[in-house]
Amino acid sequence: MNREKYCAAKVHRWWWMMPCLMAWALAGSANAQIVSPPASSRDIERKVSRLLARMTLAEKLGQLQQLCGAWDGDSLPEDFDLARQAALGSMIFIRGAKRTAELQRVAVNESRLKIPILFAFDVIHGYRTIFPVPLGEAASWDPSGAEEAASIAANEASSGGVRWTFAPMVDIARDPRWGRIVEGSGEDPFLGMAMAVARVRGFQGTNYGRPDKVVACAKHWVAYGAAEGGRDYNTAEVSERTLREIYFPPFKAALDAGVGTFMSAFNDLDGIPCSANSFTLSRVLRGEWHFDGVVVSDYNAVKELIAHGVAADGKEAAALSLTAGVDMDRFSRLYSEHAGQLIKEGKLRLATIDEAVRRVLRLKYRLGLFEHPFADEALESATLLSVKNLAAARELATRSFVLLKNDHGILPISRQIKSIAVIGPLADDSQSMIGPWSGDGRKEDAVSLRAGLRAKLPADTKINFARGCDVNGNSSEGFGEAENAARQSDFVILAVGESADMSGEASSRSSLDLPGRQLELIQAIHATGKPYAVVLMNGRPLSINWVASNSPAILETWFAGTQGGNAIADTLFGDANPAGKLPVTFPRSVDQVPIYYNHKNTGRPPGSDPKSASQYIDLPSTPLYPFGYGLSYTQFKLSRLQLSNVQIRPNRSVTVGVEVENIGDRTGDEVVQLYIHDLAASVTRPVKELKGFQRVSLHPGESRHVEFTLGLRELGFYDRTLHFAVEPGRFKVMVGASSEDGLESSFEIVEK
Ligand code: BGC
Repeated sequence: MNREKYCAAKVHRWWWMMPCLMAWALAGSANAQIVSPPASSRDIERKVSRLLARMTLAEKLGQLQQLCGAWDGDSLPEDFDLARQAALGSMIFIRGAKRTAELQRVAVNESRLKIPILFAFDVIHGYRTIFPVPLGEAASWDPSGAEEAASIAANEASSGGVRWTFAPMVDIARDPRWGRIVEGSGEDPFLGMAMAVARVRGFQGTNYGRPDKVVACAKHWVAYGAAEGGRDYNTAEVSERTLREIYFPPFKAALDAGVGTFMSAFNDLDGIPCSANSFTLSRVLRGEWHFDGVVVSDYNAVKELIAHGVAADGKEAAALSLTAGVDMDRFSRLYSEHAGQLIKEGKLRLATIDEAVRRVLRLKYRLGLFEHPFADEALESATLLSVKNLAAARELATRSFVLLKNDHGILPISRQIKSIAVIGPLADDSQSMIGPWSGDGRKEDAVSLRAGLRAKLPADTKINFARGCDVNGNSSEGFGEAENAARQSDFVILAVGESADMSGEASSRSSLDLPGRQLELIQAIHATGKPYAVVLMNGRPLSINWVASNSPAILETWFAGTQGGNAIADTLFGDANPAGKLPVTFPRSVDQVPIYYNHKNTGRPPGSDPKSASQYIDLPSTPLYPFGYGLSYTQFKLSRLQLSNVQIRPNRSVTVGVEVENIGDRTGDEVVQLYIHDLAASVTRPVKELKGFQRVSLHPGESRHVEFTLGLRELGFYDRTLHFAVEPGRFKVMVGASSEDGLESSFEIVEK
């Protein structure tokens, strides 16, 4: 790299630190917080007002428009004219320092007011270095790891000129048929909140005005994950109570963590599509939560109001979205086309447009885009896929794996083996390894399981590879070759599951079984009598009953990212000890859906009376693997559950302490989980609610005291009047290594 260029890049990235360094020096303390934005908010508001006063209506509407470049990251020829006319408030898909600069140059040099374009992209679980899919990251129960992944992703994306990510997706998903369950943190609001906060912090840092940060977007507001039948984009019927208790909390947590933007969802919510929903957008988001950032519609969601049947045409759709509170229209161009006429006809207030433009400009000032509109190519190439980023991706992938079964400690595999078979349609699939929504990730950068094993094992250990069958095909022609590979090997690793395109957007499934002939492939290998382990790769829970009953070991690896193959090899051979826990229930069959751990009891709970309980007569009520479940190569023991009080007042908190000990012979992590049950309240309460968790690392024989605090936030709920309150009464407390086992105690909240 050219030295001068490199230094220039360094200087470019240092400007933001100057006020912070000065503040730090003045404060004279190493603990002084580095939070000062490049300009104070009053300064920004002044600049926004000045700029707004000079803008024509067309220029204002240009700021409220987000258009798309080509999927591969290039601008389209028309984009340059639009940039010149100041018609591109924001662009998505255009990425890379060179390509963003080409278009940006036109906006900042040739448009009348020189307002920079804000480049956006779906940086979901990495930009170029890909981390585990978000569901996998959630399985780590390690928010700090998710924060680090988001921070690296922000660094890489911003080096390519992208300053806005459409993540985190914080939708709660209770239906594994829904393909986008892979993009979120699973079924639980508490875990979802922790992950939402971590990702927002990672993407934005304490100040997204830093050039190595991006502004995050909490999506999809709201209840998109409650799609009926799990079919993507489908209608959601959700009561206000369930919205407030289950679907809203991760959004509120993201907001409290300072998220800069929200995305209005595609779906209809109780008759009003979310991109025209003034209850969710105006009353809750702006009114109750005082959100002052930008709301962008999902892709073409403004125009889709016509298909939903709430707008007769584009003009009405634009009016509905704008008045409900959607500031920026993605893709449909309906604001630009119709807002002028709507104002003339008195159907839209200019003040509504001004307020939306104000929010967009405020965001651009906060990002520091006016001062630093360009990314730097030299810095970009030093950042992408750096050694440090790849090491983090490998480490975080190992933390996301969930050991579902390990009979007789068959895993980790002994290093003494001389030959190993790696079999299955996903064993050498580096495209699936990076999963859906993989940013600018490339399969040629990704390490497949086969490649990871080769790199791990000595050169004289023979690897016998066979695909066996396709993920989703009908042929069993490859079975013979696979059986031979197994017979010639000391141990077999079977990589099966879903290909990456079977989950994600528009990829809902009606079955949760292993697709194609994969189960038969496993059965054929099982019949050889060779020791084997099943490595699952998938973006949703799978109903793997036969495997769970018959296969000796199962390692759930989700889609593990660029370093996936190395991370799986580390884990299979014991260089890493799995400690992930399921962030979502694994059903026995799709027919049990919806099945989630924090359900209500009903008046006739399963098991109460076999003849008249709330259950199926032809299926157990229990899941295959419960929420929070996961094993380790070592064993842990929980003991001495202690509560600070047996009685507290409603405005007080109780401390729950427990001892966790590693009683096995390997270092490992345990995720200690705290659940509560409010036994009698003014409204029915879930049988269990996660209210605390900690992932602790322990050497053999080591023990640790873990403590949780239960206060207003954890003990309160929405009462009959939808008022958040703590009510007197008895609470059961459960502390365990999953949602289904553990120690129990109780305490009581008493009237003042
Ligand atoms: C998805 C969003 C995504 C957008 C832009 C839409 O189809 O629903 O989550 O951010 O596309 O790529």
